Amino acid sequence: MRSFEPRSIIEPFRVRSVEPIRFTTLEQREAALRNAGYNPFQLRSEDVLIDLLTDSGTGAMSARQWAGMIASDESYAGASSFYRFERAVRDVTGFKHVIPTHQGRAAEHILFASIVGPGQLIPSNAHFDTTRAHIERQGATARDLPCAASRKPMQPHPFKGDMDLDALRSTIDEAGPARIPAVMMTVTNNACGGQPVSMANMRAASELAHARGIPFIIDACRFAENAWFIKTREPGFERAKPIDIARQMFSLADGCTMSAKKDGMSNIGGFLALNDDELAARCRNLEILTEGFPTYGGMAGYDLEAVAQGLYEALDEDYLRYRIRSIEYLGEKLLAAGIPIILPTGGHAVYIDARSLLPHIPSENFPAWSLNNGLYLLGGVRGVEVGSVMFGRQPDGSEHVAALDLVRLAFPRRVYTQSHVDYLAEVIVELAAQKADLPGYRIVEQAPVLRHFTARLQPIDAAAP
Ligand code: F0G
Repeated sequence: MRSFEPRSIIEPFRVRSVEPIRFTTLEQREAALRNAGYNPFQLRSEDVLIDLLTDSGTGAMSARQWAGMIASDESYAGASSFYRFERAVRDVTGFKHVIPTHQGRAAEHILFASIVGPGQLIPSNAHFDTTRAHIERQGATARDLPCAASRKPMQPHPFKGDMDLDALRSTIDEAGPARIPAVMMTVTNNACGGQPVSMANMRAASELAHARGIPFIIDACRFAENAWFIKTREPGFERAKPIDIARQMFSLADGCTMSAKKDGMSNIGGFLALNDDELAARCRNLEILTEGFPTYGGMAGYDLEAVAQGLYEALDEDYLRYRIRSIEYLGEKLLAAGIPIILPTGGHAVYIDARSLLPHIPSENFPAWSLNNGLYLLGGVRGVEVGSVMFGRQPDGSEHVAALDLVRLAFPRRVYTQSHVDYLAEVIVELAAQKADLPGYRIVEQAPVLRHFTARLQPIDAAAP
């Protein structure tokens, strides 16, 4: 018999525990969305059929993770679960000091409160919103330096997550290294469509920073997905194992912040990892104040166990092949139906370009918000708007239209199967056929910062509140 290369890339697991999802009628969803102030963040998850709000903390854990959790050590100090966690993080990242935190933003808080001051500047390929908020909280500036390719949504490019290196050079020259306590690199680049960063770009950015004595820090949330893209797209890495690619990425940096809710394959957790002894000591002191003793840092012993195992599972080749393929599979179906999406598809999500799909809704009336609400009404699907509701309000209260109006459909890890994705494609294509009926929205209530979480909106053609 000859072996064959199957075209179907199947889920590399079987399901032993299931969680029902609830079907609702259009009328029920209309009522739920109205009660939620037309804001999907305010929906109850039981009213959502397919939940693609985020890939953060929403994944399914493996039997091995659960086994580790049951056998965890919950000691306050010196728990064996911590040492297993520390060993795994050191093994994958190579960093000397491992500081556990309850999630990624806690690592950001500890790091930036320890290194950044007023008037300083932290460049990045693109900061995630909590990263930006923590930098700004210290009175500093978070500057995004995405590469030119990232500004052309439909034009494929293998590494759209890259940093603009000329812009980094001139930023360092203009501000001077004394004003730049770190250069950050987010892998994959969430704000630019879950797009990967090449090893070459990371190395060049690291060298530019180090040549001026500036530390280079990786926001590593989706490091395993990034490693897979390097393996499959960057010449010279075809035969490398994802774990070795990840180690090489981390070897370019002086530390990382991590949300283990993504490529830690866990429902909660994170860490800050650093090489600098003196900085790590300062960070640990702050950690004791805000997170907990340094051998648990805001996590339960069982969370530490879940992450220690999850980091390796995220780097498994069969898993990564399936993971990236399942995103690409939805992308192909949408593309074939003429739905504009960011190309190529990213590591954790498909991003629909709502501004091009809904030209009848001006950006001021939030086309991506409308599309996302339409997906919920038509199919019970919840994504997230990444557009002018999320980014439009400036610190001085003025409104600016965001660079792009996108709907992000982020895939929880190991949760949905191919038939869920087929259904999803069907809903999106049908919604596109009914798009003329989608209304613009206006905001009727909002918080001064991060308004998208809690804002209440109204469809523009509906009666006043
Ligand atoms: N950095 C990146 C690139 C992220 O995507 C996130 C979270 C964080 C940092 C913060 O981590 O949530 O554990 O505190 N992103 C989630 C998302 C929330 O939906 O993209 P956290």
